[in-house]
Amino acid sequence: SKAHFGLIGLGVMGENLVLNAERNGFSSVVFNRTYSKTEEFLQGRGLGKNIEGAETLQEFVNKLERPRRILMMVKAGPATDAVIDNISGYLEEGDLLIDGGNSQFKDTERRVNTLESKSFGYIGMGVSGGAKGALEGPSMMPGGTKASYDAIESLLTKMAAKVEDGPCVAYVGPGGSGHFVKTVHNGIEYGIEQILAEAYDLMKRVKGMNGQQMSEVFGIWNNTDELASYLVEITEICLNTKDEITGDDVVEKILDKAGQKGTGLWTVVSALELGVSVPTIYASLNARVMSSLKEQRSEIEKTIPSKEIEDFDLGNISDGMKPLFDAVVLATIASYAQGMDILREASAVYNYGLNMPSIAQIWKGGCIIRSKLLSKIQDAYNKDPNLKNLIFDDWFNNEIATRLDNLAKVVSLSTKAGIPVPCLSSTLDYLNSYRTNRLPQNLVQAMRDCFGSHTYERIDKKGSFHTEWMK
Ligand code: 6PG
Repeated sequence: SKAHFGLIGLGVMGENLVLNAERNGFSSVVFNRTYSKTEEFLQGRGLGKNIEGAETLQEFVNKLERPRRILMMVKAGPATDAVIDNISGYLEEGDLLIDGGNSQFKDTERRVNTLESKSFGYIGMGVSGGAKGALEGPSMMPGGTKASYDAIESLLTKMAAKVEDGPCVAYVGPGGSGHFVKTVHNGIEYGIEQILAEAYDLMKRVKGMNGQQMSEVFGIWNNTDELASYLVEITEICLNTKDEITGDDVVEKILDKAGQKGTGLWTVVSALELGVSVPTIYASLNARVMSSLKEQRSEIEKTIPSKEIEDFDLGNISDGMKPLFDAVVLATIASYAQGMDILREASAVYNYGLNMPSIAQIWKGGCIIRSKLLSKIQDAYNKDPNLKNLIFDDWFNNEIATRLDNLAKVVSLSTKAGIPVPCLSSTLDYLNSYRTNRLPQNLVQAMRDCFGSHTYERIDKKGSFHTEWMK
């Protein structure tokens, strides 16, 4: 009999997803560009499973029941287009291709249109959760036509992570919306990673804490309603892991240059295109760019050295580093708030019709940014699906109002000490701007009108005005 499910691309994610599908009762067939990889898998992790291999795409397609359900886990970009081109000739009406990679949402938009117009189904699906998530239950963000989604709903709901109110997958919306939502997920991921890195840097440099002590703090934070999350949990682990050979903290042996594969950049570009303010997320992206300037930094550190860092109040382990905790909470809230704002705006501008509470629900389990806060975010959007920003929700508003002084204190003292805290400080500016009724952009408007007659609006009467500034 023919297999229920096909997978192309036996990288770690592909392998784990096919093992997940098989465990959930879907007999599978796998294809990889180099057949030796397929053989290796079938004789290794795939051994004794209801999974067979195919040496050619034609054989692969022939081994699948119709309508075919095929998941591609290949590199985003030209590699994905090549697979689509190569397999298209063998597909028949109603067959469905799913792209589970981190594709650019505009590429997905184009592919959905092309393939759907040929009577094939095409789903662009964000998959989050790393290798372990893929195997045990990822969070999935599928976008495309509703009919295509319906054809794979039972497969996806079985494979997905489960939380108290259901599986972490749901129809996201049309076109490239699934990959768009995954991109924004990654933008938030960049933000939170950088915030936690800043907290680590402050504890290490100001307080002289060691890995084990800092790990303890992240352990305390992981037990709070505000910060309990996967990223805090793994930070606790990372900081308490020793190098097997030297016995030192591994983290201290790692080169301080962060890589990136594109999704953080796409998030920021999309936000700017949509006119959404995302300073915390942008700061995390820029921090990675700065980190890559290792040689320059080591040179300039010698010509403009920092002063000796004086100890300042970040709290103690016994109080869970209270001021620092408050700062981290607000920056984390800001990352989510900015990400959700991008989604709200994209939903309107790109006609995605996104269901905001449902997206928060999908992210509650399986994915990298899963956290307790997402339940609060889900509640907030359930109460008001048109919420302009999380800051307008009572619960979040109160969090911000009560923790803002400590954020300001941590940022000002860090700045004075010469320690960069890009995500914390841009969060402070974001929140301070948000709560300022009158910003100085009246002067910007005056300058624009002065040199370019761009005109301005007034606060005392309606209309568009121009002043003869140069008399
Ligand atoms: C996930 C992750 C993952 C992603 C990297 C990208 O949700 O499981 O987002 O899909 O590939 O984390 O991040 P970098 O740009 O930092 O490599």
